Amino acid sequence: MKLKIAVLAGDGIGPEVTAQAIKSLKAIADVYGHSFEFQEALVGACAIDATGNPLPKETLSLCEQSDAVLFGAIGHPKYDNDPSAKVRPEQGLLALRKSLGLFTNIRPVKAYPTLLEKSPLKREIIEGTDFTIYRELTGGIYFGEKKLNSEGTIASDLCEYSEGEIERIAHLAFKAARQRRKKLTLVDKANVLETSRLWRKVVTQLGKSYEDVTLDYLFVDNAAMQMILNPSQFDVILTENMFGDIISDEGSVIGGSIGLLASASVGEGSAMFEPIHGSYPQATGKNIANPIASILSAAMLLEHFGLKEEAQTIQSAVEFALEKNVVTTDLHQESTYGTIQVGDFIAHCIAETDSISAV
Ligand code: IPM
Ligand code: MN
Repeated sequence: MKLKIAVLAGDGIGPEVTAQAIKSLKAIADVYGHSFEFQEALVGACAIDATGNPLPKETLSLCEQSDAVLFGAIGHPKYDNDPSAKVRPEQGLLALRKSLGLFTNIRPVKAYPTLLEKSPLKREIIEGTDFTIYRELTGGIYFGEKKLNSEGTIASDLCEYSEGEIERIAHLAFKAARQRRKKLTLVDKANVLETSRLWRKVVTQLGKSYEDVTLDYLFVDNAAMQMILNPSQFDVILTENMFGDIISDEGSVIGGSIGLLASASVGEGSAMFEPIHGSYPQATGKNIANPIASILSAAMLLEHFGLKEEAQTIQSAVEFALEKNVVTTDLHQESTYGTIQVGDFIAHCIAETDSISAV
């Protein structure tokens, strides 16, 4: 298969981890005879520094012309504590999601058997956890009208959803549940929010066409608690933009490190694949960031294009690295492996797959 992949490595550790994902993709291309073409473009703080715009026009058009986008991370501390900053790196990511119509963000959460002791939660609680969050990505409070009065003393962010916006992601979530353990949990705040009541109505209605899927509902505050008390009860979680942002970071604790969580953003056009972690500025250039979330995002990219075996090969190589403790210090404090060494090991395993399967 021929794929044109836009590489938006972004800020902080973004370039370091993305480089490892590319290594894995190149190894896959070699083993399976695919042709992946990578083209880089600026996004985030580095794009602001170079052009004044967190999402330069050339970057957006490259993404539009590509089959997929491999995204690193964005953000820089110089913007975080400056409420007066008019241009922010995050705007680049939000604009990209909106412009590419990426209305569904898929975030798998898994407790790897080899990492059960690394989680701050007890082994018996997290064992068997394997769920996927379907987070709405282009609506809700993130994109509603924002206001600040002229005195700068009162602010508001509008949270708005239409039936259509809810239906299109709900379809994808129901279909995903069908392929899995056939359970869908809608996470909302329907006891308080009108938008949540609309979500319940629309999703309940749609559920009638997916009778083989069991639909249940949880208020987001309860869901946050249930994810820590009994995470293995979940299969597919469907939720709106901001709740999804929050509970997916919470979910990352289960597996032992946020450095393991990958994501896919899909919708109308080219899809985007990115680790859920941020730019981790303190680690930039130190060769200590965990590249696995980025590498697993590359696996999700392959899966998106129907390359199931290839995706599985990356996943198996990652699991092998975890088993052999070839991991960065977030997973094993005394580890001597850095970002590059973990990336090399996984790419090497992928290449070895070929010699093993050829025998
Ligand atoms: C994420 C991030 C983004 C979000 C930020 C960087 C805008 O936290 O992808 O989860 O809030 O969606
Ligand atoms: Mn987030």
